[in-house]
Amino acid sequence: MSGPLERTVALVTGAAQGIGLGIARALALASYKVVLADIEQELVERAAAALRAEGCQAVGESLDVTRADHWGRVVEQLDSRWGALDLLVNCAGISPRGTVESTDETLWEQTLGVNLKGAWLGIKAALPGLRSRQGTIVNIGSTRATRPMPGLFSYVVSKAGLWGLTQQVAVEYLAEGITCNMIAPGWVDTPNERRLQARYGRPDFPEGIRNLTTPEEVGAAVVYLASPHARKINGVILYLDAGLHIADDAGMVHLSDRSRPPFAQRLENTEATVVSGTRPSHP
Ligand SMILES: NC(=O)c1ccc[n+]([C@@H]2O[C@H](COP(=O)([O-])OP(=O)(O)OC[C@H]3O[C@@H](n4cnc5c(N)ncnc54)[C@H](O)[C@@H]3O)[C@@H](O)[C@H]2O)c1
Repeated sequence: MSGPLERTVALVTGAAQGIGLGIARALALASYKVVLADIEQELVERAAAALRAEGCQAVGESLDVTRADHWGRVVEQLDSRWGALDLLVNCAGISPRGTVESTDETLWEQTLGVNLKGAWLGIKAALPGLRSRQGTIVNIGSTRATRPMPGLFSYVVSKAGLWGLTQQVAVEYLAEGITCNMIAPGWVDTPNERRLQARYGRPDFPEGIRNLTTPEEVGAAVVYLASPHARKINGVILYLDAGLHIADDAGMVHLSDRSRPPFAQRLENTEATVVSGTRPSHP
């Protein structure tokens, strides 16, 4: 029996900057030929050129993930340049703020369009290639898919939907050797996340926050999920947040305030007081 096919051709959406660029770079350095696709044409072409200057095989393509015709063009061009696609990474995303009541239909459609429909359209367009190569799909979700936060209504819904989509695709194509998984990062230090936090969240981001994830760490996780070692990993969420999603308040307390001692240390101090003050001593 022949072994698994080597994966060599990847397409990453949202690759002009931030996490998508981190993923594209990790794949390119792991010898993938990479198409970096983004709605920001100039930025994505510059990002691809920078990778080529590092000796990597990379091209930048303009793509609006919400447009089926754009997907058709990009996949066709990729096919004729490098042959069938065997790794699709859906990373393009937006994270607007809004509650259930303040979110209007336009915002709802924009967020679900990019974060959820965009991934579906990409998978649909890539499937012929993925099928021929027993390829793999990695969707970039968020810890917020399973740990919602007030004020992130359409984002949380879109990422929860992406988790459903991930499982459905995994089930529909498992007989064909295609895998589909979702990476759920916690806070990742990207230029746009800095802007968002300055405006809506934590002005002390990133200096004041501990346990931030880096784009390089997300890239390394994608390289792993696409490797032969991960052939049996299908339909899962890979949390990439130092375990914060299982901590209290979705990890916010643990994330906060780098200047304070870590939780465990503070707990040790508390226990020492309790033991000496109230517990009976044992022989
Ligand atoms: N930064 C974080 O803390 C964090 C945490 C968890 C998950 N995520 C997810 O990771 C992904 C990337 O986040 P980031 O911080 O790097 O964001 P970013 O804003 O830096 O990058 C997102 C990219 O997507 C592109 N994009 C937006 N709409 C598009 C469209 N219609 N078609 C094609 N491209 C489009 C943008 O031009 C941009 O280059 C998003 O899906 C986000 O939800 C981010």
